[in-house]
This record gives sequence, C-alpha cells and structure tokens, in this order.
Amino acid sequence: SLPTILVVGSLNVDLVTNTPRVPDAGETIQAESFATYFGGKGANQTVACARLSRLKTENGIITAPSTYIRMAGCVGDDEFGAALKNGLKSDGIDVDSVEIKHGVATGVAVILVEPSGENRILITAGANGLCQPSASLLTPAPALLVMQLEIPQNTVLEMLRLAAESSPPVATLLNPAPASRLPDSAYQRITHLILNETEAAILGSGGAAVRTEVETEMMEDCRRFTQEFVNKGIQGSVVITLGAKGAFWHDVKAGHDGLVPSEKVQVVDTTAAGDTFIGAFAVKVVNGNPISDSVAYAVRASAVTVTKQGAQASIPWRDEVPTPAS
Ligand code: RIB
Ligand code: NA
Repeated sequence: SLPTILVVGSLNVDLVTNTPRVPDAGETIQAESFATYFGGKGANQTVACARLSRLKTENGIITAPSTYIRMAGCVGDDEFGAALKNGLKSDGIDVDSVEIKHGVATGVAVILVEPSGENRILITAGANGLCQPSASLLTPAPALLVMQLEIPQNTVLEMLRLAAESSPPVATLLNPAPASRLPDSAYQRITHLILNETEAAILGSGGAAVRTEVETEMMEDCRRFTQEFVNKGIQGSVVITLGAKGAFWHDVKAGHDGLVPSEKVQVVDTTAAGDTFIGAFAVKVVNGNPISDSVAYAVRASAVTVTKQGAQASIPWRDEVPTPAS
C-alpha cells in the first residue's frame, strides 16, 4: 500500500493585492490588481504533497499516485471553507478530517505583493484557531506527520507527543512557520525540522540571522543553528531554506551536510514556495529517498512555485518539475 502523509494544519483564503509598493502609515494608494486564492500553510503543503506524487491528465483525471495524502484542520461554515475543502478533494486528498466549524470564519490571509515578488502577509486564524489535537488522527498510523504553526502551538506540541509515543513512533516533519520559539522538549519529537533563515534566527539562540552574502559565512551560520537544533534532539534532518540561495541540509544519522543552490528563475510571486518545498521533501522522504536527494528535488519544485501567482494555484504537479540540469 502507498505511504500515507498526514498534514495537520491551517487552511486560509488568500486575499492578494498586487501593488507597485506597500502604502505607508496613513497613506492610500492605487493597487494594480486583486485576486483570491486557496492558501494556508497546512493546505498548501498538503496540496504540494498530493500534486508532487501524482499526475493529472488533460481531462482532469488524477493518476499514478505514489502516496496517500490526508489533511486534518478546521474551516468555517462560510463559502470559503467549503470551497477550500473541495479544492483539496479535487487534487485527490482525503479531507474527511477537515472539520467545518459552525459560527466561525474560515482563516484569511491578506497578502500584499510588490513587483519584486516580495510579499507581506497578515493572517486571521478564524477556524484554524479551533484546531484540536486528537490521537485518533494517528490511527491508522501515517508514515509521516507534517505540521506548521498556523494552528495553536499546543495542538502541534500535543500531536508531536502523540506521534512520539505511538508504537512504533510516527515520523514527524515540523515547519515552524510563522516562527515562534518551541519548548526544548519538542525537539526530540521532531524527525525533520525545515525552516527558513529568518525562522532559524527566531527559534535559535544567538539572535543574529544567517549571513547570506558570502557562501562560507552562510554555511557557518547554518551549521551553527543546525548544531543547536540537533543538540536539542532532532532525529532525522535539519533543513534551512535560503530563498534564491537554495537550501542547506544536515542529515543527522549520516552525519553530513551540504548546500543545494537554486537555479535562477523569473520571480512572480514567492507565496507557497516554502510550502512546495515541504511537500516535495515529504513525498521523497516517505518513498525512501536520502535527505540530500529529497532537498535537491524540493529546491527544484519550489522554484516552479515562485514563477506563478497565488498559493495553491502555483504549486506544480509531478511532471511540471524540471529534471536536474546535468
Ligand atoms: O505560506 C504561504 C501561506 O501563508 C499563504 O497561502 C497564506 O495563507 C499564509 O498562511
Ligand atoms: Na506562488
């Protein structure tokens, strides 16, 4: 049977405004365009897992899955919630554990995108704030539990505990985004920790961010943060994503690390690039690929996402990811 990935996390509707620049305090300016997209880090990562392990024919038929993907989370009883759930379903995702909560709004992200592709995001949790931990989500046990921090942190910590205490333990992947510090006890329950350079600085001690100008300094800083997370108990890997610079990885068991540079691409909208990275890494890892190869694939997949508008709308299917340049 196919390896199952369970994502427990957020679902948002993204309200995206493209603007020549962001307004200053008290200022009103004309934007260029507005669109709504399906988003939320949890849902985006779920979609990335599904699409990167499936093909879709021209007439919309989904074929050749290499994983089974389930999502658990909460939406409101508004039109956004139903639409988000249907969107996931149409990508071949099991949404039986996506609950519709009555009397609350679906999560919303207000996103401002500048011509450079840089974005600023303001999130209102809505129903995501009601997402509760549950042991029953781990029966039957998934091959990998994937989470982020757009649902209450206590829910994430409790799911990590339940996963660690399952027998056999369930492997976990945490993407601590948006960043907030974790209790030390959480780290030993995380198999794979994947975060960007600013998140690394917030979770780690020592304050200063990863220096990305000079490669030797970048590696030094990534190693320093990684060592700290490994000392706290990370079991499988630490991956620090570095935007246009690619990604640093450290394979804890193999005891080695490396840097995967990113190919240059035309940046349109970086939204969901990080989420695509997570999904790509997850589908490779559950199918038994080494950390280094999984990261290399994730770098290529997320580069596709930055070339397109929107969150889920920009996440590629398996055959849309370019094969490595040799
Ligand atoms: O990671 C991108 C996502 O973050 C967006 O889709 C938005 O919903 C925010 O949660
Ligand atoms: Na995008």
